[in-house]
Amino acid sequence: MSIPMSSPDITAAEIAAVNQVLQTGYLSIGPQIVAFEQAMARYVGLPHAIGVNSGTSGLHLCCIATGARDGDLVITTPFSFIASANSILYERAIPVFVDVDPVTGNIDPQLVAEAVHDLMRGGAAATRWLPRRHGSIGTLKAIMPVHAFGQPADMDPINTVAAEYGLYVIEDACEAIGSTYKGRMAGTLSDAAVFAFYPNKQMTTGEGGMIVTPHDEWATLFRSLRNQGRDVFDAWLNHTRLGYNYRLDELSAALGVVQLSRIEELIARRSQVAAWYHEQLADLELVECPQLSPHTTRMSWFVYVVRILPPANRNTVMQRLAAAGIPSRPYFTPIHLQPFYQERFGYERGDFPITERLGDVSLALPFSSVMSEAQVSEVVERLRAALTA
Ligand SMILES: Cc1ncc(COP(=O)(O)O)c(C=O)c1O
Repeated sequence: MSIPMSSPDITAAEIAAVNQVLQTGYLSIGPQIVAFEQAMARYVGLPHAIGVNSGTSGLHLCCIATGARDGDLVITTPFSFIASANSILYERAIPVFVDVDPVTGNIDPQLVAEAVHDLMRGGAAATRWLPRRHGSIGTLKAIMPVHAFGQPADMDPINTVAAEYGLYVIEDACEAIGSTYKGRMAGTLSDAAVFAFYPNKQMTTGEGGMIVTPHDEWATLFRSLRNQGRDVFDAWLNHTRLGYNYRLDELSAALGVVQLSRIEELIARRSQVAAWYHEQLADLELVECPQLSPHTTRMSWFVYVVRILPPANRNTVMQRLAAAGIPSRPYFTPIHLQPFYQERFGYERGDFPITERLGDVSLALPFSSVMSEAQVSEVVERLRAALTA
């Protein structure tokens, strides 16, 4: 049996919706994006949702909204997909990495508070949080936690310290649509949040993303920035500010409308697959299953990431799985150890020990809403063999 790493969950309804758009002639800036945005705003319970062409572009626009640029600082996590930190670099601001909680892999709120206090104080206290190599330093503008693998970061203490110093908070909720933190929706716990819809996500639009925000003026800014800097009242080819083409097309939006209408079903199926893994992996001593914080009142599973414990070796296990026809991935590879970050900022192994340990032992197993119990059993049996070979 061939088991893919991930699969989109597409039904006849999605195919019909996309076909319908093709017949209208409106392939961009039409009624589907409006419908998708309205449905998303209703789903999360915020006044504004702004469709964009990727999660990365959404995060970039959020960074612009915080005013972080040219050496300003944004606190974020090194245990993430590279786009979260890159979105800060697009504005020539500096991502200040803070290590993570060893259980959830999410940014450690206590370290965030320490970093904020020290960075606001300046001098030697601030220096220990900064990369070895950096240009001139501006001011601390924002905090960007990431909801890793779908599990919400511990947002309350982060928001408390942000409020104390007037900092913005941006949630990278790209992996977490539908998760809840203390009963509140991921994406509604900050000044702005971004969801992403790449085909391996809980719901997909092909490529695509959505910014959600409670702030009226930010929503207006995002609509302008995604559309080449035009304001809504601008005449044709009148551009108020430097903008981008970050628009979401109508085909993607139509797919999004149907996927979002099925989101509860998609999340429930993924929960079932996660529960099968959890059950079947229980007797494998060298495999640690994902753990949820008590703050995670609902987990919307994006990926199923286990930890391969010593004396087993994650890379060896991954190779043996591949030889047995089962795909798996190291996830995440720490951002500060990516060649570009090491070169530019002088990061070294040892800088963020918890992130690095998680990076060394984490293994994402095949996962999707269309996976069967038999496929989960096949993966688990191959993993058992890979551990004992
Ligand atoms: C944590 C995180 N941030 C940002 C992104 C970027 O989203 P996209 O691939 O849609 O640009 C992703 C998606 O893979 C992600 O997982």
